[in-house]
Amino acid sequence: MVPLAAPPAPAPLQRADPTGRDKEGARIRAMFGRVAGRYDLLNHLLSGHLDRLWRRRLARDLALPAGARVLDLCAGTGDQAIALHRRGYRVTAADFCLPMLALARPKFGRAAATPPVPLQADALALPFPDGQFDGATVSFGLRNVADLDRALGELARVLRPGGELGVLEFTVPALAPLKSLYLFYFRRLLPRLGGWLSGDPSAYTYLPESVLGFPQREGFVARLAAAGFEAGRWRTLSGGVLALYRARKT
Ligand SMILES: C[S@@+](CC[C@H](N)C(=O)[O-])C[C@H]1O[C@@H](n2cnc3c(N)ncnc32)[C@H](O)[C@@H]1O
Repeated sequence: MVPLAAPPAPAPLQRADPTGRDKEGARIRAMFGRVAGRYDLLNHLLSGHLDRLWRRRLARDLALPAGARVLDLCAGTGDQAIALHRRGYRVTAADFCLPMLALARPKFGRAAATPPVPLQADALALPFPDGQFDGATVSFGLRNVADLDRALGELARVLRPGGELGVLEFTVPALAPLKSLYLFYFRRLLPRLGGWLSGDPSAYTYLPESVLGFPQREGFVARLAAAGFEAGRWRTLSGGVLALYRARKT
């Protein structure tokens, strides 16, 4: 079994944090730590089991040769990393929330040869040298990071030139009837259902807020371009409730 690697101990000196990112990051990490135990179950239930299909689609779309080194960032409980591993990639699964990663470990333990490597790491300061990976994925993670542009900059830094990025993220459907239904589900039903099932209502009030506050489609592609990615494109899945983005490191 691959050991769960921890990053080097932080410097003992108190650092100034004028951006508030550290505090925001700590709040997000604590929230995922609280819901970790029920995360998988809720994901499957609230998505009608489509989440497995979406992650497989992202892994398939990456289209790198078998054996390519792929970083799965904001890896959570490891399902995206497993989908990538099944495509024959050598996967590093990074997340800053240990209780989420701890649930990935047994899944990785059951994986065949060269299982994904779990690593505790912050998306805003990745502990990898430049150009380390051939590909990277983030599923349902980027809307949670405290500084999106910085996380995209880190992804661009650790990818080799020409390296492939794939991102899955919820979107608000563009068409009127589905859009109203989606907003009703997201704003009214999901916070209640999620709060009731997870025992943490704040986490599932936060979910619609984070989705509605995240750049949509062309807006996100523009952020990718600003971070050093080219050929950014997107396509929607499941009637437009989420988008699969692809881009290449310049
Ligand atoms: C909604 S979960 C997605 C997990 C997984 N990718 C999936 O598809 O189920 C979001 C994850 O992002 C992680 N995360 C949020 N901010 C992060 C950061 N700054 N660095 C690393 N992980 C972060 C959280 O700990 C959480 O596990």
